[in-house]
Amino acid sequence: MSTAKKEYKRVTVKSLVDMKQQGEKISMLTAYDYSMAKIVDGANVDVILVGDSASNVMAGHETTLPITLDQMIYHASSVIRAVTRALVVVDIPFGFYQSDPKEALRSAIRIMKESGAHAVKVEGGSEIKESVKRILNAGIPVMGHLGLTPQAIYKFGTYTVRAKDKDEAEKLIEDAKLLERLGCFGIVLEKIPAELTKKVSEELSIPTISIGGGGYADGQVLVIHDLLGMTHEFNPRFLRRYMNLYEDMSEAISKYVADVKSRDFPSEEEQY
Ligand code: KIV
Repeated sequence: MSTAKKEYKRVTVKSLVDMKQQGEKISMLTAYDYSMAKIVDGANVDVILVGDSASNVMAGHETTLPITLDQMIYHASSVIRAVTRALVVVDIPFGFYQSDPKEALRSAIRIMKESGAHAVKVEGGSEIKESVKRILNAGIPVMGHLGLTPQAIYKFGTYTVRAKDKDEAEKLIEDAKLLERLGCFGIVLEKIPAELTKKVSEELSIPTISIGGGGYADGQVLVIHDLLGMTHEFNPRFLRRYMNLYEDMSEAISKYVADVKSRDFPSEEEQY
């Protein structure tokens, strides 16, 4: 049997299911603009999520609730222009799919048409079943998101681990199975116990992607600003920082300020 990994020149929703079947873990990261997306795609990340976390890290809001559909489309179209390999998934923001399946479909169509994205993501299970069905019936791939769903933060009250009790865990498993039955191509599991992620991942044939859900998921996702250490005040246990850009950038920028003040910049060689 060959152990060589299959090369994916262009990642599709089908590639992700193949990866799960082959036991290859899926890498997913957020990006919200052209320059960052070019780096993320060039580093062979399988899925780029234009997350509504843009509301926090790009716009400085406390929650993901304020970001609008127009703003998500702006971020997504910037990302799409940079990407040649990754599958690009875009969050439908809060208030644009929950109240009415027709509105959900209109929102998904706007994202696909105006940004060129490849799929959309929505938060929740049985409560949004009709919206998910509508979007899928139009041929738009849908990714689910269960566990800690930040668009419902005011219902939860805190960002602590979800589904620790039996009832919530059972509902999550039922919701995951429902999303699979409806035709979703994958599900993000946010901040739930690792054993629950294991159970869900074993019971589904579509991939699970964890953020704070542990290593049994079929893939992992992080917010790029957290991975790079730009958000230095956010330190959840699940986060592994690969850089400390907040400090490195502050140091570089302070040096630039000092060089301008001292007239060291620009030098003879740096002018015409
Ligand atoms: O918006 C986002 O970045 C997300 C991830 C946390 C999965 O939904």
